Amino acid sequence: MMKNQFEMSDFIAGFWRLASWHYSPQQRLSLIEHYLDLGVTTMDHADIYGQLQCEILFGEALSIKPSLRTKIQLISKCGIKPTFESAPERYVNHYDTSEQHIFTSVDNSLTRLGTDHLDLLLIHRPDPLMNADEVALTFKKLQQSGKVLHFGVSNFSTGQFELLQSRLTPMNIQLITNQVEISPYNMTSLHDGTLEQCQQHRISPMAWSCLSGGEIFTSQSAQAIRLRTVLNHIANNHCVKDISPIVYAWINALPSQPKPIIGSGNVQRIKNAISSKSISLDKQEWFSIWEASTGHSVP
Ligand SMILES: NC(=O)c1ccc[n+]([C@@H]2O[C@H](COP(=O)([O-])OP(=O)(O)OC[C@H]3O[C@@H](n4cnc5c(N)ncnc54)[C@H](OP(=O)(O)O)[C@@H]3O)[C@@H](O)[C@H]2O)c1
Repeated sequence: MMKNQFEMSDFIAGFWRLASWHYSPQQRLSLIEHYLDLGVTTMDHADIYGQLQCEILFGEALSIKPSLRTKIQLISKCGIKPTFESAPERYVNHYDTSEQHIFTSVDNSLTRLGTDHLDLLLIHRPDPLMNADEVALTFKKLQQSGKVLHFGVSNFSTGQFELLQSRLTPMNIQLITNQVEISPYNMTSLHDGTLEQCQQHRISPMAWSCLSGGEIFTSQSAQAIRLRTVLNHIANNHCVKDISPIVYAWINALPSQPKPIIGSGNVQRIKNAISSKSISLDKQEWFSIWEASTGHSVP
């Protein structure tokens, strides 16, 4: 019997945008401590975020107070090779899920983050050239070395997930999550079987871009305007000033129990997101948001 012993916090801190916040090391440390005070202990990175800078900036902050490491579950991702200035040999963005690249990526993430292990490693994007046997064996070797404790995937279709899991099952490894985009603005994962698959495996998906990267507040598309109208109306009914807690409450209502990744660097906005825990939407409110997203009623 495989044991899923990895406990994520209910919300996850996302650090994709960390380099763009231009915070000092002390401000970055304060942000991490704010998250921990709010019960958010799981922190999401990727090797490529901020052209490799985000993990470095995070590691620098953590080095001011290394004792925090034991309170944090660190996630990173690998498998994308973009055409960075610092990698002049690359002339096309591509994927690489070979053993050699995964090993190199993990070693580099550990160095940048200043830690001896990742709690969870995800394959960032499905790779049409992925050899599932090779990835499974690589995961096993990483686990045996103690460099990575748990494994998952991101943006995988249900078939891609099943393929990799089928190779991992004999090795007694369970994929812990599929990290996918989930928001009222993009409901693809609600309709393509991804979330049902998570329920079937009794794992929680991780939800990225819950606020559609800010578009839900700013876009002038007909869909965004419909959504803001309905979200504001529901927020008023719940005596909430901001629409973001309603968006998170809508995601929290999904039975696969997604773990929303918060993308803001603003402490008040982070608190707003977490305040959604106390908001329960009834089915008519939930489907009003679904209707505003699709532009039509359920059949
Ligand atoms: N696996 C993947 O392929 C993948 C892809 C994308 C992201 N991710 C993960 O998911 C995390 C979250 O993604 P995300 O950053 O796109 O999340 P998000 O929450 O959808 O977007 C965050 C953006 O929205 C802005 N925002 C928040 N509240 C706002 C408000 N009230 N008004 C206007 N703008 C507002 C934030 O600005 P402020 O900072 O100014 O608040 C920030 O720029 C990332 O950090 C990363 O860890 C994973």
